[in-house]
Amino acid sequence: MERSLVLVKPDGVQRGLIGEVITRLENRGLRLVAAKFLQVSPELAKQHYAVHAGKPFFDGLIAFITSSPVMAMVWTGPDAIVAIRQTMGKTRGTEADPGTIRSDYAIQNQKNLTHASDSAENAEIEIALWFTPDELVDWKRCTEDWSF
Ligand code: CMP
Repeated sequence: MERSLVLVKPDGVQRGLIGEVITRLENRGLRLVAAKFLQVSPELAKQHYAVHAGKPFFDGLIAFITSSPVMAMVWTGPDAIVAIRQTMGKTRGTEADPGTIRSDYAIQNQKNLTHASDSAENAEIEIALWFTPDELVDWKRCTEDWSF
């Protein structure tokens, strides 16, 4: 089983898409492990996006992710990294496959509604940044034996 950090970013929160994102991940059979609604500090934003430091869009990215609350979650399941990124679609809405969240609800590459970890290794780093171990809930969905 893999785990992934998932963020519904400020645009997704403001547009009322928290429930839509959760529904799509639940519908794939994935299991919610942790969730919290928070205003992101500049410090957390810079740590989360450290890999993009120095890029031309970095300052805008920090301003955006701290502009309004986000819904931060951890989801788990087999091949969760690929499954979740597939559900989100490519970064730019106009390049995302039809039926993905970004294709259905987004157009460009900054206001792209969600963040999902890009590898199992980075997921563990991101989860440790956003959540304390006691915030991760150990449970199993009764549907899992029928989903995978
Ligand atoms: P995310 O998955 O949160 O990881 C990095 C983010 O940077 C990405 O989603 C986009 O929101 C954002 N991003 C990537 N490329 C660009 C770009 N060229 N201009 C603005 N934002 C970008």
